[in-house]
Amino acid sequence: MKSPAELLNNLFAEALRAAFGEAGRDVDPLIRPATDPRFGDYQSNVAMGLARTLGRRPRDIAQALIDALGVGRADARVSYLIEPPEIAGPGFINLRLRREFLEAALSSVPPAPGGAEDVDLAELPADRLGIEPVDESLRRTVVIDYSSPNVAKEMHVGHLRSTIIGDTIARVLAFEGHRVVRQNHLGDWGTQFGMVILGMWHLCKAERRGEPEDWSERRLSELAAARSAGGDALRAYLTRLRDEHQAELDRDPAGVEFAAFLRSFAPRLVRLLPAYQFVNAVESAAEDFDLTVVDRQNNKQVKFSAVSNHVVAMLQRGGSADDQERQAWQLAIRASLEACGAIYRRLCVLLTEGDVRGESFFHDMLPGIVEELRLSLPARGADEAAATGSTGEWVRAVCRDDGGAVCVFLETPDGTPRFKGPDGEPLPLIVRKSDGAYLYATTDLAAALYRMSDNRRRPIPLRSASLRAALAARDPHHGGLGGDRVLYVVGMPQKLHFEMLFATIEALGWTRAGEPAAPRVRLEHVAFGSVLGEDRKPYRARSGESVRLKDLLDEAVARARRLVEENDARRGDDAGQAPLSDAEKDAIAEAVGIGSVKYADLCQNRGSDYVFSWDKMLAMQGNTAPYLMYAHARIRSIFRKGAATCDDAPIVLEHAAERALGMRILQFGETLSAVSTTLLPNLLCDYLYELAGAFMAFYENCPVLRAPDEETRVARLRLCDLAARTLKLGLGLLGIRALQRM
Ligand code: ARG
Repeated sequence: MKSPAELLNNLFAEALRAAFGEAGRDVDPLIRPATDPRFGDYQSNVAMGLARTLGRRPRDIAQALIDALGVGRADARVSYLIEPPEIAGPGFINLRLRREFLEAALSSVPPAPGGAEDVDLAELPADRLGIEPVDESLRRTVVIDYSSPNVAKEMHVGHLRSTIIGDTIARVLAFEGHRVVRQNHLGDWGTQFGMVILGMWHLCKAERRGEPEDWSERRLSELAAARSAGGDALRAYLTRLRDEHQAELDRDPAGVEFAAFLRSFAPRLVRLLPAYQFVNAVESAAEDFDLTVVDRQNNKQVKFSAVSNHVVAMLQRGGSADDQERQAWQLAIRASLEACGAIYRRLCVLLTEGDVRGESFFHDMLPGIVEELRLSLPARGADEAAATGSTGEWVRAVCRDDGGAVCVFLETPDGTPRFKGPDGEPLPLIVRKSDGAYLYATTDLAAALYRMSDNRRRPIPLRSASLRAALAARDPHHGGLGGDRVLYVVGMPQKLHFEMLFATIEALGWTRAGEPAAPRVRLEHVAFGSVLGEDRKPYRARSGESVRLKDLLDEAVARARRLVEENDARRGDDAGQAPLSDAEKDAIAEAVGIGSVKYADLCQNRGSDYVFSWDKMLAMQGNTAPYLMYAHARIRSIFRKGAATCDDAPIVLEHAAERALGMRILQFGETLSAVSTTLLPNLLCDYLYELAGAFMAFYENCPVLRAPDEETRVARLRLCDLAARTLKLGLGLLGIRALQRM
């Protein structure tokens, strides 16, 4: 089944060609929902623009188009779809769908394969409501980078937004028939790992000394106390820590104890985090003091404020797979993955460990990336660049050293810098620091290459042999993920990073490598704003710390549980409703609480900031999850009150409220296409809210169980069923469970 807008679109496209020949080819008919429902359901706004191109009067264009459509002619397909159109104002064409069409379209929706029962929120819902996937020729491979938290740190609210928004987009695109590849770009590499590993080493030593479990927390507060007592106290305290550190190193220079500790360490983030924070605090406090420790094993004197760097050097030195740094690092990743996995399951998102391609996955491609940039991009702008042919139409990239760092400078074709720093100087994308370290952007270039490249459809010609080899090693079979569309669901603060990254990739020509056989790759930053507290500052816990996601979700569920109790009490002994058991209440509270947090996020235009409000998100009225979930449960309750099956009853749209509801149901498919083009989940939320409103209006105006006759009764029941299935499918694509009872 195609949606009304799609059918209109196709018929108009044909008519445009019939009426205007070449001038009508590939012209968007601009079919939009009617601005004023009194004049129709849709309108076409094409006449005004076309009139300008053709130098004719818009109303004449509109009339010619209507004639070409042939509405009213018995043989014209369009006669079955719409009433004779009317021209309004300067040349708008008002379109009203025929009742017979609406009735037939709704009546042809196949029954739900799995029945109305709750099912898991699988990637592809069993009940598609008869909506077809997009045409084969339009199906794309879409790589979507979302969630992407950092190891050994708690996920923060920004990661929550990325997770929720990304998951909905992934579901909608998969439903449309695209091949969706999820990528969790875990931050699992970088200098903070030295601190994590060192933190683990401290945990080991503290355990051996028989110190209490909350050792790190205690040390942290001792350090804070010493710091506020002033310079001498701080020096004394840090010196004590240094001596302790040195003594531990000397006691066990070969690290036998640490090795044993790692073998038995249960990777738990709650223990790792404070240890990491302790190291972080010590190292920053020690910066102003001249304290050192001696690593006798490696014969090195190390500044006490930089021991973690020393650990990173040992980790990056590589060495054998069983070296301690590597093992510790892997344990930290494990701890983080488990903590993330628990959150993902609770949020009902699709991400699994199989989707993790962290930064470390790309690590050994980085030297090759820098080499590739040097070989493919000119070192100077102007004349030379024009000859390379690797420059895009709208940007030119120049790769050169700047103060020892390897930088990509992006310019418009006339040589002016595309990006400038606050000082007005050209702002480069730095890919290697002067100390040889690679950066976030370097990894993103490697990841983008992996995501777009595909041996068969989009082989990307690379000049660096080492990069070619490293890429092939990532995916020997396909040589990459072959994404035609690569999405990055990441907060607004990284806007500049992605602009520079995409410009560099375009300049390298990677997006166009498969043309004409494969489409040009579209790279999109799916940006989102911040979550604010009622004070309009970034959302924080009352203690002033950033909110732990687990606590946030627990609170949502606890509040939802109170809501469920209230509803239950209000319902009293409503006819035929057995009271909810405690276990049922728990399950409902979990679904409503989590659903509310997700919905409150998804219903906002993702580009804007929004204010986090428990009361708003849990309200039973308004554009909220509880309202929609309640509408669904309410429809299902009609069926519990003894309704026969209505699966093949013909739909009748007699009453205006019936027509309005039927119309909305049929618009589900076009809503999804709008979401997949704009990547704005709030369009789906708005649609569901209007659908629920249309149902409520119908339910007030058109008695269902007490309908005047049997034919009307079953027709209305079937409309109810379709409305419930649409709500359920829509909520499901938002990753929210529709409930039978609430
Ligand atoms: N880990 C990063 C952060 O927390 C987000 C990564 C986004 N993805 C990417 N390919 N850069 O900020």
